[in-house]
Amino acid sequence: MQITVTVNGAERTADVEPRLLLVHLIRDVFGLTGTHVGCDTSNCGACTVLLDGVPVKSCTMFGVQADGRSITTVEGLAQDGQLHPIQSAFKEEHGLQCGFCTPAMMLTGAALLDRNPQPTEEEIRWAISGNICRCTGYMNIVKAIEAAGQAMATEKAPATTSITGVQGGGSREAKRSDANPPAREVIRRRRRGSEEMKGVRRWGPR
Ligand code: FES
Ligand code: FES
Repeated sequence: MQITVTVNGAERTADVEPRLLLVHLIRDVFGLTGTHVGCDTSNCGACTVLLDGVPVKSCTMFGVQADGRSITTVEGLAQDGQLHPIQSAFKEEHGLQCGFCTPAMMLTGAALLDRNPQPTEEEIRWAISGNICRCTGYMNIVKAIEAAGQAMATEKAPATTSITGVQGGGSREAKRSDANPPAREVIRRRRRGSEEMKGVRRWGPR
């Protein structure tokens, strides 16, 4: 079957068998190997991509089901040589160890922030509950998604923030007012408030 898919903003056409899984279309036909295969049971979430902006496990779909639709893989997160804020946050917050789950975690996190720019820790943990990480214990992944949300909100507040330079390449300088503190401080304050409210901090995957 001839299909046309928009992959990371570029239209791609392929002649594929109807039985070809979307994950193999992405990896083997389009050559985008940042999408991983971590299981045979649709459990691990390492194959997650965004289909029309929504996270899907690409091992659970056929490639032909993506015909006429738009896919974002981890290769599409960075734009014009600049890391996406979620990529910078995973780096800064040590949100990865072996990195196998990381492309899927970042895409899931980016999709969450797209619809909910200031998620709570609980909302983040629900959002990534379909993605398994065998290394990190999830704490730093949650911190990274929180930090990315804060960084994105800060960048959208030009009256109180000035960021110059390029992430991952040039210098980065940020000036923030007390009303707009650094991301880590905001997260620390929110966590402290959350702990006081609940009395108990709940960690660990669902
Ligand atoms: S490869 Fe494990 S859920 Fe898709
Ligand atoms: S960083 Fe190794 S599986 Fe998540």
